[in-house]
Amino acid sequence: MLGVKELVDSTCLRSVPFNYIFLKTPEDSTLYYETQNIPIIDFSELTSSNPNERSKAIQQLGDACQDWGFFVLINHGVSETLRDEVLRASQRFFDLSEKEKKEYVGQDIFDPIKYGTSFNVMVEKTLFWRDYLKCYVHPHFNAPSKPPGFRETLEEFTRKGREVVDGLLKGISLSLGLEENYIQKRMKVDLGSQVLAINYYPRCPNPELVMGLPAHTDHGLLTLLMHNELEGLQIQHNGKWIPVYPLPNSFFINTGDHMEILTNGKYKSVVHRAVVNGKGARISVGTAHGPCLESDVGPAPELVGDDNPAAYRAIKYRDYIHLQQSNQLDKKSCLDRIRI
Ligand code: OGA
Ligand code: NI
Repeated sequence: MLGVKELVDSTCLRSVPFNYIFLKTPEDSTLYYETQNIPIIDFSELTSSNPNERSKAIQQLGDACQDWGFFVLINHGVSETLRDEVLRASQRFFDLSEKEKKEYVGQDIFDPIKYGTSFNVMVEKTLFWRDYLKCYVHPHFNAPSKPPGFRETLEEFTRKGREVVDGLLKGISLSLGLEENYIQKRMKVDLGSQVLAINYYPRCPNPELVMGLPAHTDHGLLTLLMHNELEGLQIQHNGKWIPVYPLPNSFFINTGDHMEILTNGKYKSVVHRAVVNGKGARISVGTAHGPCLESDVGPAPELVGDDNPAAYRAIKYRDYIHLQQSNQLDKKSCLDRIRI
């Protein structure tokens, strides 16, 4: 199937083809601007050697995970130069010819490198205005060898991402009253799965008629996301859709389904979506950091009790990804399939 970028580049599109038209309900179309309330976490405080500063940041982190499942991370130590290079190299990847990109068209969910369009074209009737490149980058690093330098840039960027996640998981473990390395050990994060997803949302002649990525939650423990100069991410908070805007050199972080399972629902996986725009192509780069693919994930025994019984059944991370990715991406979170 032709990518959206190819469709836009090869024809003089004045309106979107009917199979991309995404019908929204009035609730889906109403936006709430609550940007001022979105939590901001300072990574340098979270990893500070000053115990007071650190414990304050841990408290803020716990509150952000509990109340929002989402926060903006600043002072994370990933350089702006590296971030810009990832975005530029991603543009160069999508600028390759369709023939070159087609080398990476995969057949299977667990293909180490996969280029594609929409979300799951095998089951979708309405297509999403999005092309993507997905790579499993940990415990084994996989990335395309084209364009030159892309692989090296991604390797450095995804390694830095793991350092950030390490600091966040320590803070999250402590915020739950658990030992600092609890989540890393229980989820075998040193063998953890890290999936890089680069989303390319071409400029659209009728942006309000299509969807980039519909409402969904991410699998895994935490997702780090950044994008180029064009916005498009929206999160659902108390049933309302809120567009989110980054601070300079920040990451958007959201908790994933496996954080919700592990914490027995204390830290909820945030529902989010991506809309497109008529100004230009939006590129977003996300990394989903999860347990080891072979880990069985269920609620942590320390977080369940007589008054708080286990709310999810344990499932192997690999099987969960399979369940999510072989179906349609829709409002119903894949979590509903394993809720007790
Ligand atoms: C994702 C995602 C949002 C965006 O890739 O899972 O939610 O803004 N992306 O591209
Ligand atoms: Ni997502």
